[in-house]
Amino acid sequence: MNARAVLATAPEIRANPLREESVTLKAADPCTFVVFGASGDLTHRKLIPALFRLSKQKLLHPQTAIVGFARREWTNEQFREEMKHAVESAGASPSEWERFAGALFYQSGVFEDHAAFRALGQLLSKVEEERGVPGNRIFHFATPPSEYATLVRNIGAAGLARRALRDDHAVPWSRVIIEKPFGRDLQSARDLNALVHTVFAERQVYRIDHYLGKETVQNILVFRLGNGIFEPLWNNRYVEQVQITVAESVGIEGRAAYFDTAGISRDIFQNHMMQLLTLTAMEPPARFEADSVRDEKAKVLRTLHPMTREEVARDTVRAQYAAGAAGGTPVPGYCEEPGVNPRSQTETYMAARIHVDNWRWSGVPFFLRAGKRLAKRSTEIAIVFRQPPFALFRSAGCETLEANVLRLRIQPDEGISLSFGSKSPGQALHIDPVQMDFYYLTAFGQDPPDAYERLLLDCNLGDSTLFARRDEVELAWEFVDGIQIAWRSGAPPLVKYAAGTWGPPQADELLAASGSRWYRL
Ligand code: NDP
Ligand code: BG6
Repeated sequence: MNARAVLATAPEIRANPLREESVTLKAADPCTFVVFGASGDLTHRKLIPALFRLSKQKLLHPQTAIVGFARREWTNEQFREEMKHAVESAGASPSEWERFAGALFYQSGVFEDHAAFRALGQLLSKVEEERGVPGNRIFHFATPPSEYATLVRNIGAAGLARRALRDDHAVPWSRVIIEKPFGRDLQSARDLNALVHTVFAERQVYRIDHYLGKETVQNILVFRLGNGIFEPLWNNRYVEQVQITVAESVGIEGRAAYFDTAGISRDIFQNHMMQLLTLTAMEPPARFEADSVRDEKAKVLRTLHPMTREEVARDTVRAQYAAGAAGGTPVPGYCEEPGVNPRSQTETYMAARIHVDNWRWSGVPFFLRAGKRLAKRSTEIAIVFRQPPFALFRSAGCETLEANVLRLRIQPDEGISLSFGSKSPGQALHIDPVQMDFYYLTAFGQDPPDAYERLLLDCNLGDSTLFARRDEVELAWEFVDGIQIAWRSGAPPLVKYAAGTWGPPQADELLAASGSRWYRL
């Protein structure tokens, strides 16, 4: 992994003489970002603002070009005008916007049309010549997943990409960023991988999972492996259970066409949650570089206990939100959302008890849950530690002690907290849980940067550490396929929960069956 620019503003951090204020080992290469799906939501909300901020921080090469491609019949000027709104939130001054806008170009066309790809090729050559870009290209598939295969075929047929023989850094290089979900099951992921490999070598393929670009997700490894006190506790001797939650308060936000064919299991569980799980459970890698890290993550996926049909029926919960409230406002149920089949059986919530069958985690349940329209937005990993071996304070009347819980708060209020028992002031012996807290904002004086900034720059730098490798994606599908297949037989049944709550009672029962409960977020 490349050493990155580090910014410190908190006084205690600035005062550390050993800290380098800014370390960047590699400069970005001049390249063209070719964004397929340039009129879509992802491009507006994430990609263009991230590229703008990178450009503003001078982390992109000044000759960088951005070429958008989508169906809408826009001119370069219209594309620039649309993107101007996209960067408003990134705080663009008129001169910064002018400089950035000059790098934006647009080609309209449908992905099925070969002529449109030839036109795209001509535009790329023209832009590269004008801006002095030596042919380096990043193709970003910001489109519905159903378009990925067509895009790969047509990029190949139009000769827009150069296959890397040995060195992915040899100029001109080509790379492809493919959004999740990568496939909709194991077979389709394998097919897509095989197709992608007809045009790109694996080291040119960047399967993006934006959770890996989140600062707090990267901090899981730093926290575990960069501090002597935690790693010795990170195993079944001290950890009783792990809980991973990805809770969203929003619904499907107009994405019915996609979501109704995906469900939360494909949208979040197969990718974001599996990545959080692997980073939490993996062994220390031999080195902090792409393949060593990904080897260890893949090993975790290989050791996931494949669930039998009976285990799926007993250890998973699938549910769909019914009408309820969000932030005090009434909201419709999933089946009443525009574009959703009124009889849809798609799950918007799932929970599961899963096991990592290896030496470190044997006997430790991992409870995972993800859902839309839950009580609040919160992504968190809770490591719940075992009780002390001897109940010393029982004789003094303290029958039960709260477990020590280490919470890695991915978002919001990014940070880490540890709860432990403390004697409450007074003559009698009362033990109450108290908390030690670390907040990114107060410690570093700034919110973590957006994940896409990090990931787009990494791709430009040729660093794939924070992207999913072929085997990781396929292994995650293999596990999720087992659940999907069992679900198709109807067990457990799809249940309902009211929008704005913490999900169905069955999810609480899942924990209660293990003598536990979900830790409050
Ligand atoms: P949208 O539906 O908003 O955008 C799709 C884009 O693809 C539009 O620009 C559309 O063009 C274009 N398009 C679709 N079909 C064709 C076609 N046949 N020919 C030409 N253009 C076509 O999708 P999103 O931006 O929400 O999502 C894109 C991808 O990013 C998905 O894979 C999603 O899973 C992933 N993603 C999205 C996130 C988000 O927050 N939105 C977050 C993380 C990942 P036009 O509109 O002109 O028809
Ligand atoms: C995307 C999913 O990958 O992640 C969306 O497709 C979800 O359904 C989004 O809302 C959540 O991302 P974040 O960064 O807001 O947690």
